[in-house]
Amino acid sequence: MGGYQFISKEPQHTLEFAKRLAEKLQPGDVIALEGDLGAGKTTFTKGLAVGLGVSRTVNSPTFTIIKEYQGRLPLYHMDVYRVEDSFEDLGFDEYFEGNGVTVVEWAHLIKEQLPEELLTIYLYHEEEQSRKIVLEPQGTRYEQLCKEIF
Ligand SMILES: Nc1ncnc2c1ncn2[C@@H]1O[C@H](COP(=O)(O)OP(=O)(O)OP(=O)(O)O)[C@@H](O)[C@H]1O
Ligand SMILES: [Mg+2]
Repeated sequence: MGGYQFISKEPQHTLEFAKRLAEKLQPGDVIALEGDLGAGKTTFTKGLAVGLGVSRTVNSPTFTIIKEYQGRLPLYHMDVYRVEDSFEDLGFDEYFEGNGVTVVEWAHLIKEQLPEELLTIYLYHEEEQSRKIVLEPQGTRYEQLCKEIF
């Protein structure tokens, strides 16, 4: 494993990387975002939204769990931090199998419901302004995607 990682020196760097990734995304792609509070999951999602041509501002959907945005492809932004238990079914499948891109903050909290193939992105706090960002692809589609952007 490994190889697909870098240090983001500031929020803008994370945004730019996510934007570049977004340009390569396809209908049905699923991205799991993992990292502590304030690691940058929502920041990363904002960059994806820009890259997908979403004009609305993406903010933290903590109290709504799922938010939809229109862009080149629809963006489904989930934050499952407040999901009661890992089997609670809020119709996630329909999003994963839909024709948009799904991004899930705290994805491991619903791990039983995640698709087998997805791209997991870990964000680790390094210092005030820097984050280690590690991409872990599951499946050939996401392996290919990582190769293209690194
Ligand atoms: N290199 C960096 N990349 C991303 N964010 C950074 C970086 N350096 C500093 N930050 C700051 O860290 C914060 C990250 O907040 P953000 O809401 O994106 O985190 P989160 O992981 O979504 O948190 P939560 O678990 O509460 O949802 C922002 O204030 C952002 O400006
Ligand atoms: Mg967040």
